[in-house]
Amino acid sequence: MSEKTYYERSLNVDVYPHLRMALDIVDVSLPKVAVDVGCGAGRDALFLVERGFKVHAYDRSDAAIARLSEMGSMYLNEKLFPKVCSFEIFEYPRSSLVSSCSSLFFCDPGLFSRAWESIARSLLSGGVFCGHFMGPNDSWAKMKRGDLTVHTDEELQDLFGRDFRIMDIYEHDSAGMTLLGKEKHWHTYSVVAQKII
Ligand SMILES: C[S@@+](CC[C@H](N)C(=O)[O-])C[C@H]1O[C@@H](n2cnc3c(N)ncnc32)[C@H](O)[C@@H]1O
Repeated sequence: MSEKTYYERSLNVDVYPHLRMALDIVDVSLPKVAVDVGCGAGRDALFLVERGFKVHAYDRSDAAIARLSEMGSMYLNEKLFPKVCSFEIFEYPRSSLVSSCSSLFFCDPGLFSRAWESIARSLLSGGVFCGHFMGPNDSWAKMKRGDLTVHTDEELQDLFGRDFRIMDIYEHDSAGMTLLGKEKHWHTYSVVAQKII
């Protein structure tokens, strides 16, 4: 099964609960500008456009951005700004919401700090980050592939530091499946955090 199959399936998955929670928390006086980090085919980006956000959505995959551009053609360059780009070089606009569903852990560990600093700096005070991180019990993390960024619980607390208030963390540590039907052990943390400075 291919990348294309993955992206088609991803469009039929519900928006993840912490993205909905982020919308309840975000300071409504801020400009409605969001970034979808590693957006894939753009399920979450389209959800945010439909809720009134201007959405900058990027992914390193040409196929993903082509599919999102097709799905969101009526919003292109007005409310939806898709781009082929990578975590560490994307120019993050000042925003009130950054969402990174199941993507940021694919960042090369040597480039993660640079990507995270850009994300953290781009959020306005009162803005919200929501997204997933990978924990050390994940079967992909245990393979020591070297191309994934893995965080312990403690490291996550440090990452958000004093600039954010963590509003919720959901830890998922159990056997499961990928969207392409392969068995694996998932260990992820889904985090919602509000920028407070
Ligand atoms: C598991 S998919 C999640 C896609 C989407 N967020 C969703 O929930 O449907 C991970 C995505 O991260 C993207 N990705 C991986 N490495 C990346 C990088 N260095 N920069 C930007 N995107 C990347 C992949 O191309 C893929 O579309």
